Amino acid sequence: MTFTADALAGRVAFITGGASGIGFGIAKAFAACGARLTLASRNIEKLTAAKQELEAMGAEVLVVQTDVRSPEAVQNAVQQTLEKFGQLDVMIANAAGNFVVPAEEMSANAWKVVIDIDLNGTFFCAQAAFDALSKSEFGGRFIAISTTRALEGWPGCAHAGAAKAGIMSLCRTLANEWGDRGIRCNTIAPGAIGDTEGVKRIYEDQGVANRQLASIPLGELGKTKDIANAAVFLCSDAGSYITGADIVVDGGRNRTHSGTGYPGKRD
Ligand code: COA
Repeated sequence: MTFTADALAGRVAFITGGASGIGFGIAKAFAACGARLTLASRNIEKLTAAKQELEAMGAEVLVVQTDVRSPEAVQNAVQQTLEKFGQLDVMIANAAGNFVVPAEEMSANAWKVVIDIDLNGTFFCAQAAFDALSKSEFGGRFIAISTTRALEGWPGCAHAGAAKAGIMSLCRTLANEWGDRGIRCNTIAPGAIGDTEGVKRIYEDQGVANRQLASIPLGELGKTKDIANAAVFLCSDAGSYITGADIVVDGGRNRTHSGTGYPGKRD
């Protein structure tokens, strides 16, 4: 146990993409710290399996099949959360889609689908949660997942890089606009997190996993638990004076100059 079992006691957290990867890692850490949870994602089988595992840990869990591209669907899932738990203290906009394709070959629809899920979906989550977060007795928390590639540029993932840069800007705006409501708005920037679909798609499937590993000063891929620990910290009382920040959790990768790991034309 990294944090105390009551670090998030009394809180209700809503996590998009919460049934797998980084989102499920956050859900498990939040359950271990006493939070009640809503998981929202598109896949009901994954949601059901995640709910069972979290309930076995003793957590109270609501799952709502949700596509974050629909503002109405997100609003409905938040409404169901309020009906079940009576409050919402934390919104974690984690759901994302991504795949590798060179910019000049990217179809208009491929660009649009990633912007829709990552950037538009994050905005819909923030807006749907605003009212409830502003009433949180703990001080509301809005967290979105970014990446250091957002500001460096992300060769092979122009759509996701642009979306994540937009997410960083959005959260900085919200930190300003919502500070007087007590809502802390931050992003977490994961590096290469080994046990995720993202690393499989972006590095392993492209045959660049070893190059990626070599660019990490700490010498190993991250784990979903590492991102979850940052999220617990931000959402606990210990994180109460942090807003408008981007918390980088990448083993130092953004401080190296060994390339992006993309099998590009000039590599
Ligand atoms: N390479 C190039 N284009 C791709 C692609 C790939 N690997 N995957 C999807 N696309 C394109 C499709 O061809 C389509 O464009 P088109 O209509 O011009 O052909 C467009 O993207 C939409 O794809 P579609 O499969 O219809 O979208 P979807 O909503 O069903 O799926 C995705 C969403 C594309 C993001 C899908 O990859 C997904 O569900 N991902 C979730 C998991 C994930 O990405 N995890 C990693 C997070 S880092």
